[in-house]
Parts: sequence; C-alpha cells; structure tokens
Amino acid sequence: MNQRANRVRLPCQDPTLEIEVTDDGSRTLIQKATGDSYHSSSGAITETRQVYLQNSGVAERLSTGQATRVLEIGLGTGMGMFLTVDQAIKHRAPLDYVALDYHWLSANVVRELAPESWVDNPAVVADYIQWRSSVTDLQFPRDPSQSGHLPSGESAEPKSTSVYRWHAGEHQVVQIQRVDALRWRHEGRCFDAIYFDPFAPDTNAELWQTPLLAVMYKLLNTDGRLVTYCVKREVRDRLTAVGFDVRKIRGPKGGKREVLVATRH
Ligand SMILES: C[S@@+](CC[C@H](N)C(=O)[O-])C[C@H]1O[C@@H](n2cnc3c(N)ncnc32)[C@H](O)[C@@H]1O
Repeated sequence: MNQRANRVRLPCQDPTLEIEVTDDGSRTLIQKATGDSYHSSSGAITETRQVYLQNSGVAERLSTGQATRVLEIGLGTGMGMFLTVDQAIKHRAPLDYVALDYHWLSANVVRELAPESWVDNPAVVADYIQWRSSVTDLQFPRDPSQSGHLPSGESAEPKSTSVYRWHAGEHQVVQIQRVDALRWRHEGRCFDAIYFDPFAPDTNAELWQTPLLAVMYKLLNTDGRLVTYCVKREVRDRLTAVGFDVRKIRGPKGGKREVLVATRH
C-alpha cells in the first residue's frame, strides 16, 4: 500500500501546490502536477536537520561559533535556511547563506507551513515573513502542469538574476537569488557547505548532470561538503568524476536508508 496515501494533505493557497503533513508532524509542499515533494514524507524537519545541517558539518561549525558560508540549491519552503539561520543566531556565528531558486514562494504560502514551529526562536521566522512580504518580486507564472521542469537552455524565466538580501541578524546575511541554477554565475568567495536539494533526478534531471556538479565542486572550499538525499548510482558516479570523494551514510530515522556526503579534499 502506498503510505503517502494515508498522509494528511491540505489545500494551499497556491493552487499548483498542496500541503502535506509529514510523519514527524512538520509540513511540506507537494507540486500537484508533477507529484514532486519539497521534503521527505517521512519527516521534513528530521530530514533537513540530519541530511543538510548535520551531514554538511554546518551544525557543528555554527555551534562552535565559526563563520560559515552555505550555498543552497533550491530554497523551496525555506526550511533549510530557517534552521541554519536560527542556529547561527543562537550561537552568534557569522553566516553568509546564498540560496537559489527560480520560484520564490510568497510569504503567505510559507506562513501556511507553520515555519515558526521549525525553529528555536520564532522571531527569526516572523522577521523573514515581514521582509518577504515587503519585497516586490517579479512573479513569473510557472504552472508545472503546462511546462513541467524546464529543460536546460529552454528556460521561460528571465535571463537575469534577481538578488534579495535579508539581514537576519547582526552577522547573519541571507542572499536569495531568483535564477535558474543552470544560468547562475557566482562571483566571490567559496562555500563551506552546499545543500544540494533539487527535486528528484527523474523529474528535475537537468540539475543532476555533470556540468552543474562540476560548478558545485569548484565553489567549495577544501574539506567543504556537498550534501544531498539522493544516492543514485549515476549521481554518485558524476560527483566522483568531477573530483568529489563520495560517501553514502545512514539516512534519517524512518526515512531514506542512505543519503550522500560528497567532500572536496
Ligand atoms: C526539493 S525543493 C527544495 C526544498 C528546500 N530545500 C526546502 O528546504 O524547502 C526543490 C526546489 O528546487 C527549485 N528548482 C528546481 N529546478 C531549479 C532550477 N533549474 N533553478 C533554480 N531552482 C530550481 C524548485 O523551485 C524547488 O523550490
């Protein structure tokens, strides 16, 4: 039996999306047209804490007050960002967080996910929601039922990148870049960690190919880690081919059996 069928689904004010209550009680989003889920149905927050914050080494860096630079491929609901910013502020660790997404969810949609329950300090979320509401973003209509995932080079999105900065704390800055990740050009310092979180390779195939993975490798500091939920053989092979040392490690309790850590030495 499909376990997903038993999970509670709620309507979302974005008609292309549905809210799912995952097994640890935290909410995520599902794209209705493609069935793509923003997180593991076994537990969105459990997955985010372990696969991204812990496995990347970011949780440890922040808890010891180290200045940290994170790149996230796929901001989505902002869960990874909120958890990271919350920890950085708590431990007074300087943080530069750069998140890419070509579809930036509105404050109203994020609010429907009860993000204040994800963090130790709900003021962090309240501040983001207020900031997001104040930003006029060129919303491009992107109905996956019509376009599906846009193949590389055929993006209907603007060619330029829109950059938005949220000063989350005194030394914690989030930069949201609304851009097709395949068109993004980074100038500046490298990152300590990459949260690599596109949709699954079956439906979001273009982001799992060698060219973008090679860019990810170049963007990491020595000993930096790219972390992701996907352990598919072809993805591991591509990561290895561009220079990463790739390991499968145990996944979150109740979720995927194994997840992936790729290190640049
Ligand atoms: C699995 S969700 C990310 C979940 C997110 N990390 C979170 O914590 O909610 C994947 C995200 O990748 C974005 N995405 C997919 N293809 C993209 C592309 N070519 N460029 C930029 N963003 C893309 C989608 O819009 C979606 O928000």
